[in-house]
Amino acid sequence: MKKKVLIGYVIAAVVVLLAFEYSFWTNGFLYLEHQSEHSYLIQTELLRDLFLAEEVVENSAVKQDAFETFTDTYAEKYGIRLTIIDEKGTVLGESSGASELMSNHLDREEVQRALQGESNSVIRRSATFDVDYCYCAVPVESGSFRGVLRAAIPLQELYNMNNEFVRSTVFAVLILVALILFLGLYFRKYVMAMKKVEKMRREFVSNVTHELKTPLTSIRGFVETLKAGAIEDPKMAQKFLDIIEIESERLSNLISDTLLLSEIESKKDTKREPCDVNAVITEVVDLLQPKVREHVRLIFHPDPSVRPYSCNRDRLKQLLINLADNGLKATEFGAVTISCSSTNRYLVLKISDTGIGMEEEQLERIFERFYRVDKGRSKAQGGTGLGLSIVKHIVELYNGTVEVTSRPGVGSEFTVKLPY
Ligand SMILES: Nc1ncnc2c1ncn2[C@@H]1O[C@H](COP(=O)(O)OP(=O)(O)O)[C@@H](O)[C@H]1O
Ligand SMILES: [Mg+2]
Repeated sequence: MKKKVLIGYVIAAVVVLLAFEYSFWTNGFLYLEHQSEHSYLIQTELLRDLFLAEEVVENSAVKQDAFETFTDTYAEKYGIRLTIIDEKGTVLGESSGASELMSNHLDREEVQRALQGESNSVIRRSATFDVDYCYCAVPVESGSFRGVLRAAIPLQELYNMNNEFVRSTVFAVLILVALILFLGLYFRKYVMAMKKVEKMRREFVSNVTHELKTPLTSIRGFVETLKAGAIEDPKMAQKFLDIIEIESERLSNLISDTLLLSEIESKKDTKREPCDVNAVITEVVDLLQPKVREHVRLIFHPDPSVRPYSCNRDRLKQLLINLADNGLKATEFGAVTISCSSTNRYLVLKISDTGIGMEEEQLERIFERFYRVDKGRSKAQGGTGLGLSIVKHIVELYNGTVEVTSRPGVGSEFTVKLPY
């Protein structure tokens, strides 16, 4: 609906603009034409004064081509056609040089009006030259001679100018329309992106609230049960206190993961230093030792050829902890292996495990916030569902990529590529 209204506005604006342009252009052109016609007529009257001053009629008695000489001279000088016509309509001189071939001009409107003493002009297509002319005819009287001096000014230049104006106007309107459409589309895209961000933010807030409420409800429930008498039974009391401890830890994890995520998202992270990648991984392996189960090994063989990577050490460590921790949580038997290498352009980190693995369709979603394949299992292990989302954000912080391959019952492998 909104889109239609917008398009309607654009069309209406263009139509109004075109109508305005059209009226402005037609009136402007008519005015220009009228002004030109007026000044052509004045110029023709000045030519008549010259004609009389040069005594052309008197000269014609001794010099046969006196009329032709006059018309040729001034026609060439001013880039127009000049014709001298007597009162019978006979062409006495014509600048195009074809006076003897020309028909009687008595039927021409401007000639007739000039013979009646009126200086006048008309716009007409020339029968001889097939071009639009402004014909200015002025009466001439010299002694016993009565006739007409007529100037024909081609209007093509005026028309060309007009066409040029129309062309540039249409072009300008087209550019304007394209610009409006472009801006409209850009604005639409921007609004949609903003809406998406807003939606994601709202969903996140609602998810966090829900996730925080669950352990809190559980803690309150067990505290109440203890107070109601369960505290008297040491075995039961111990069990409930254990649950309260786990839930509190979950709450604390959730808060720290949420804070971390928002910190990474705000991209204020400019602290970078060259990191010894082997040393960071060794630190992570040591840190995760308490989480390694009996039949699982956490393997890492340092590679001395790996070049130091410039980044925030804490972020790199967090990325490795989250991936290795997931591997450990998913693996009952076998190993979780971390490896690193350097190519020309990338630092490549691989974290693989021999754990439960995942289905293809689950792989598309695991980087979403709060997504867990098995919610119960994740919660039981103190998971928040934010670990991989944090990994993805850290990777994006360094313009890198993270990929995963997995097979149910076989294991998973995460590959992180960070550009040097
Ligand atoms: N190595 C892995 N093997 C099997 N499943 C995994 C592995 N890593 C992640 N997952 C799945 O992806 C989910 C999301 O991971 P994560 O964001 O780290 O959340 P959490 O570990 O807190 O549950 C996990 O709940 C788990 O179902
Ligand atoms: Mg995790």
